[in-house]
This record gives sequence, C-alpha cells and structure tokens, in this order.
Amino acid sequence: MSTDAAITPDARERLRIHPVEEHGRLWSELWDEGSFLPWDRDAPNPALVDLLAERGTELGLGETAGKKALVPGCGKGYDVLLFGSYGLAAAGVDISESAVKMAQACSEQALKEKPISGAAAFVTADFFKDEFVKELHAEEGFDFVYDYTFLCALPPDLRTSWAKRMHELVKKGSGYLICIEFPLYKGIETGGPPWGLTNAVYDELLGLGFEKLIHYMPERTHEVGKGTDYITVWRRKAD
Ligand SMILES: C[S@@+](CC[C@H](N)C(=O)[O-])C[C@H]1O[C@@H](n2cnc3c(N)ncnc32)[C@H](O)[C@@H]1O
Repeated sequence: MSTDAAITPDARERLRIHPVEEHGRLWSELWDEGSFLPWDRDAPNPALVDLLAERGTELGLGETAGKKALVPGCGKGYDVLLFGSYGLAAAGVDISESAVKMAQACSEQALKEKPISGAAAFVTADFFKDEFVKELHAEEGFDFVYDYTFLCALPPDLRTSWAKRMHELVKKGSGYLICIEFPLYKGIETGGPPWGLTNAVYDELLGLGFEKLIHYMPERTHEVGKGTDYITVWRRKAD
C-alpha cells in the first residue's frame, strides 16, 4: 500500500498538526480508530534488516553488552524488536499511548514465538521532551537511533528541532543515527504527511553534527520507497 495514496485529503488535513502540543491527541485519535494506519507495514523495513545483517559488525553489533537503541515514533515497534534481536536494550517511543499499547501487545506475541537476546521496551513520550531519556537511563546517549517515517510525519517547521534533538540523543563520538530517507519521490509542496524530503535536506540538517559514514540505495525496502529510498548511517561527532 502506498502511504501517500492511502492518506485521504481529510486525514492529511487532520495530521497537519500544529502546535506540537496537539500531536499526541491527533495521532492517538488515528491509532484509536485503528482502521487508518497506512504507514504500518507489519514488519521492519527490509533495508534496515539487510544493513544490520551485512554491515552490523562494522557498526559494533558484535559487542552489544550495555548498548542502547532508540526508535522514535515507533508505531507498532517492529524495528525495536529487530534491534533487540542483536542483544541491544532497545526502546520505542511514541507520543500516542494507543500506539504504545499496540506495540506492547505485538511485541509480547512476537517474543512468545521468537525470543530475543536483548530487550524491547515501549514508552509513551514526546520525542522532544526529556522524560523518556531518564526513564530509559540513557543520559549518556543512545548507541543507535533509527528514523523511518518519523521525520516525514512531522510538520516541516520542526525539522531543525528534529535534527537538534537527534544530536542530543545520539551518543557523542560513537553513536549512530540510521535514517531511511523517505519520501524522496515527492516534493514538499505536495503537502503531507508524509512530507517530501530530499538527500540534500538530510545533509543540511545533519551535516554539521554528524559524519556521514554509509549512504546507498538499498536493494530491498518497503514497496512504497522502491527505487527512491536511501539508507544513511551518520556517526555523531565528538564535539
Ligand atoms: C508515520 S507514523 C510511523 C510509525 C513507525 N515509524 C512505522 O514506520 O510504522 C509516525 C509516528 O510518529 C508518532 N509521533 C508523532 N509525533 C511524535 C512525537 N513528537 N514524539 C513521539 N512520537 C511521535 C505518531 O504517533 C506515529 O506513530
């Protein structure tokens, strides 16, 4: 299903959310209705699966004791379980309590079928606020933060705040921010969410505080991003 095609003008209008204080309520309404979750694809993005399998050692996934991963705007949290399967203490944060409840239920079910060596926790919280950082004992930063369909879900005037917040959350000098760049097939003027992005926008937002280590068009990704998605791994600079 195409995220864009699935979002009706009415729903898009409801998600064109200002100010940020309204986000939780508006996203939660969609989660509560349950019938309108066009971004949900029932599985982690294959591009992330392949990156971790093929280049995980390079990113330190051979030694995960004590390391933490964060998925902001985690939805049902499939990617959180994927990070947890590498032995990381992984956490998903979502502003919608309903999303977090669904993520907990999905993860409970999935873990019964396939236990993981790490941990998967889910917290209802606003990405831009600090409470969840304390709750997850991550004051020194996360070793991995992953963004897929989170930046594009935010109103474009929050992009600089998103980048600043990522810089605060990723561990200084060693932490990685993994972005699946999406949606690169549409212009920002076509509206959102998902709000159109470009490689250049990511570079502009993250280039100062992060070093770009890996950047390629993945062979596999979700259908909607095939032929346009890029995956990028950024390492947080020490300063
Ligand atoms: C497009 S959905 C993507 C969900 C998930 N990443 C996925 O790929 O299935 C965006 C998610 O971000 C959450 N969200 C929006 N604003 C947020 C905020 N300020 N803090 C945390 N989560 C937020 C929404 O509730 C929603 O679940």
